[in-house]
Amino acid sequence: MIDTIKEHLEEVKKFSSTSKEDIEAFRIKYLGKKGLLNSFFAEFKNVPNGQKKEFGQVINQLKTSATEKVNTLKEALENQAETQGEYGDLTRPGEPIEIGSRHPISIVKNRIIDIFSRIGFNVSEGPEIEDDWHNFTALNLPEYHPARDMQDTFFIQTDPDILLRTHTSSVQVRYMENNQPPIRTISPGRVYRNEAISARSHCFFHQVEGLYVDKNVSFADLKQTLQYFTTEMFGKSKIRLRPSYFPFTEPSAEVDVYWGLETETDYRMTKGTGWLEIMGCGMVDPNVLQNCGIDPEVYSGFAFGMGIDRIALLLHQIPDIRLLSENDLRFLKQFKSSL
Ligand code: PHE
Repeated sequence: MIDTIKEHLEEVKKFSSTSKEDIEAFRIKYLGKKGLLNSFFAEFKNVPNGQKKEFGQVINQLKTSATEKVNTLKEALENQAETQGEYGDLTRPGEPIEIGSRHPISIVKNRIIDIFSRIGFNVSEGPEIEDDWHNFTALNLPEYHPARDMQDTFFIQTDPDILLRTHTSSVQVRYMENNQPPIRTISPGRVYRNEAISARSHCFFHQVEGLYVDKNVSFADLKQTLQYFTTEMFGKSKIRLRPSYFPFTEPSAEVDVYWGLETETDYRMTKGTGWLEIMGCGMVDPNVLQNCGIDPEVYSGFAFGMGIDRIALLLHQIPDIRLLSENDLRFLKQFKSSL
């Protein structure tokens, strides 16, 4: 009898399986209610006294070995299931989840959208790869117009008609082509210009351009809208409009906001003047309205455009525009926002 048990002991040691069914069958064979171990234990009383000690030892050995075997095989099976994506032990403590923060460009963009949406502007978007018509021609910049040089354009080499948009004014053209006034829309997005990369300029950056077209829209409406914006965005309501030139607006202006000269940083940022340039704007040129299928005899409008990156640098005192596209977590983790 003892020899039989010893043989089983060998069998238990050798046993191995990755099949759930086989392991369970093994468990039932040895450890089940009607299993071998129970039947050996039942034999105990018939064993001659002289052998009882040894019998007891081997039978206990068999029990421990069989139990351990079942446990290790089951555990291996579970680990394997877990790495294959099945649930393991659901009572394990959770792993901490790192919550990301918004990019400073997104924070500024969302704030601008929020401010303009409160006065009835919707958001429009368009493609970054544009055609000549939407980026230039429709905007009163026909071929060979000298002002095309103002924006160093990336062209697709094989097709001079296809380019990376240099401003999101192209989205406004698309919007006017597809919608009749009243139009109140802002167009945020990434734009590209073939400029040398430095701390102050990059070959891509982000803009928000705005467009308002309706009957009787005047320059006074433009100024009031911009003043509302600078008050909400920067907490500064003093602005000035300097005459400027854009092919798509007439008259055109550059907008400065009075930042103040209270601190050392104000001094540096405004070069000692207290004024900061923040955007370009103007009344939409009648030719542009015409190009987009809107009757300039009936409607008028204003447009404005600003750089998001520049505003982000300004608000967060970021010294180098390149930080915005390097995705260094030590930089990005400093920004938190609910918007
Ligand atoms: N599109 C101009 C730029 O990229 C900005 C602008 C938009 C100016 C609308 C006037 C009106 O510089």
